[in-house]
Amino acid sequence: MSHWIFRIVVSFALLGAAILWLTRARTADIETLQGLSGDATRGASVFNAGGCASCHMEKGATGTARLVLSGGQVFPSPFGNFTAPNISPDPEHGIGGWNALDLLNAMRHGTSPEGTHYYPVFPYASYNKVTPQDVADLHAYMITLPASDAENQPHDIGFPFNIRAGLGVWKALFADDNWVLQTTDPDLARGRYLVEALGHCAECHTPRGILGQLDRSAWLTGAPNPAGRGEFPDITPGKLNWSEGEIFDYLTTGFTPDFDVAGGHMALVVDNLSQLPESDVRAIVGYLKAVE
Ligand code: HEC
Ligand code: HEC
Repeated sequence: MSHWIFRIVVSFALLGAAILWLTRARTADIETLQGLSGDATRGASVFNAGGCASCHMEKGATGTARLVLSGGQVFPSPFGNFTAPNISPDPEHGIGGWNALDLLNAMRHGTSPEGTHYYPVFPYASYNKVTPQDVADLHAYMITLPASDAENQPHDIGFPFNIRAGLGVWKALFADDNWVLQTTDPDLARGRYLVEALGHCAECHTPRGILGQLDRSAWLTGAPNPAGRGEFPDITPGKLNWSEGEIFDYLTTGFTPDFDVAGGHMALVVDNLSQLPESDVRAIVGYLKAVE
């Protein structure tokens, strides 16, 4: 090999190694959860606000079957099909062996206990703003749920997206934890936390760029459904001109002002929101009225 080719090859290898190192999977300090104890009752609210069951239960499950987080639902995307894993407390097939810090690393950093990157179909680009106390509570709640011994199914995605190491670059570019709505009002901040972080409303209601990143300049203005059917509506005040009471009723009962009923994925969101304290749903409504 001539000298200059060798140099170019070495430079690219070094650059690649530097990028992989700079974008390696992050984890939180052990102190992050120190002194916090989890409360399962509060954790149930975090679970409902986060909509975990909607993706991790068996498809179509209702009632208490929603709490069996056996995984298996398939999520189509332009990059291939992702299958939700088992996150029930089964120590072998689920996440029964995880401590609260493992859960925190998954939600806030998109990092697995083995130190690999998760795909952002697990909406950690929203959950990354979850508070450590909420993670401690959520963990305390999740370990009380029924165990399932369902096996995890592999994702069906092609090269290069099947290489998890590349996700570090995606995270560095797109998974920032800045708020979109700027506010110092405590009620609005609560609504913002529920909409932008836990409720991950933007993951459906905001259009995406070619790498699947949320277009924050078009926040909540609606998007095509990646499953190919229908649209996620624009829910900014410019489009959603319902009164506060009408939005509240929709989010808790699914009924629109013209007696239509929430369908598709939104029906699952309504199932979850209807179990939240009333003040939390009011805070979400306040946010939807305030966002641009
Ligand atoms: C939009 C669907 C969706 C929602 C909502 C969702 N998840 Fe997931 N989750 C996934 C998918 C898909 C994966 C697999 C990601 C991967 O393999 O990189 C995953 C992975 C995980 C993992 C990693 C499991 C493992 O075996 O490594 C945990 C833990 C998890 N989710 C917990 C939660 C919790 C807690 C919530 C609610 C706060 C939640 N998820 C909400 C789709 C979802
Ligand atoms: C998994 C995808 C998904 C998520 C997450 C989601 N939505 Fe929706 N949303 C939809 C779909 C689909 C519809 C349309 C439902 C229909 O046509 O019946 C909808 C409709 C709505 C509507 C009614 C709009 C209209 O004009 O009819 C409101 C309001 C709304 N969503 C608010 C929210 C809020 C607030 C959140 C977060 C707490 C949220 N959504 C999270 C998918 C989602």
